[in-house]
Formats: sequence, structure tokens, C-alpha cells
Amino acid sequence: MSVESRSFQKIIYSAEDIAKRVASIGAEITNAYPPDADLLLLGLLKGSFVFMSDLVRSLERPIQLDFMVVASYHDGITTSGDVQFLYKPAISIKGRHVIVVEDIIDSGTTLNQLCRDLAARQPASLEVCTLLHKYVAVDLQWEPRWVGFGAPNEFLVGYGLDHAENFRNLPFIASLLN
Ligand code: IMP
Ligand code: MG
Repeated sequence: MSVESRSFQKIIYSAEDIAKRVASIGAEITNAYPPDADLLLLGLLKGSFVFMSDLVRSLERPIQLDFMVVASYHDGITTSGDVQFLYKPAISIKGRHVIVVEDIIDSGTTLNQLCRDLAARQPASLEVCTLLHKYVAVDLQWEPRWVGFGAPNEFLVGYGLDHAENFRNLPFIASLLN
């Protein structure tokens, strides 16, 4: 087993900062749909798993959720530009209000391909909620409706985000030491 030799540099968002922001996004999403809307949250694994678990508990309305698995980063810190779907929910999303839950938008490649695929399956609506947005994507076709934080253009880890599968368990978000 390889041991991550790098350490993080500085905390960018504390656990308290994150908790406050997640609670306010939760309130916004709660109020954005009619109470009887059929709302389905689709989280992108693995990065969104911590955000998803806090976000759904801040929603004061009925929802359903599932996860998707795509692979676009392979142990490194640069995108391969090639998104591979490893798991998609088998359930139908047709006629349902779908929110894609992302950890971070960097190049936007993942999201563009994913949303194109989901939109073709005729949801009643399709929105994106991302915890972090680097605002560096040049051709983002689905602007997220909800953004936790505009993130610095650095490699960030913690609160679900990894570097080579490490650091996901940190309760805060930190930049990685180069
Ligand atoms: P994109 O396709 O370039 O937008 O990258 C999206 C995915 O890459 C995210 O869902 C993350 O899993 C990963 N990613 C992008 N930037 C970072 C980062 O700063 N830290 C950790 N993972 C990242
Ligand atoms: Mg990742």
C-alpha cells in the first residue's frame, strides 16, 4: 500500500465555513421547488459523498437520491479529458426534477458530458449544485444553479476531495502542498 507523502498546505474552508454554507444552500433548494415536486439528487462519486450527506440532511422536504460513478482523473492532478461512466442509476429520471451534486468544477469536462447524457433522458428539470467552482472552465454548458464557494485555482483536498484517494476524510478543505 502506498502512503501519501505529501501534506496539505493551508486550510481554505473550515468545517464551520462549510457547515454554514451547506445549510444555506439546503434552504435555497428547499424553497426552489414546489413541496410536491419529485426531486432526485444525483451525487457524483466519490468526491461528492460528504457534501451529499450533509446537503440532504439540510433539506426540509421529501427527496430521493442516488449516485453516479465517472472516471476522469487517474491518480494525477490534471484532467485526462476523457469521461468514462462506470455506474449510472438504473432508475428512470424522465419527468423528475434532477439535481446533480458535484464536489468541484474544474475544466467542466465531467459535467458537460454527464449533463448531456442526463438531459437526453428527459428530466422535468436539470440543475447542478456544486460545493466548489474554480471558474476556469472555458466551455461549461451547464452553469451550476448553486455554488458553495468560488474556489482558488489550486489543487484542493478534504471534505470528500482527494489526491490519489487520500485526504477525503478531512473535515475541512485545504490546498495541497506542491
Ligand atoms: P473537471 O471535469 O475538470 O471539471 O473535474 C471534475 C472532477 O475532477 C471533480 O469532480 C473532482 O473529482 C476532480 N477535481 C478537479 N479539481 C480538483 C481539485 O482541486 N481537487 C480534487 N479533485 C479535483
Ligand atoms: Mg476526484
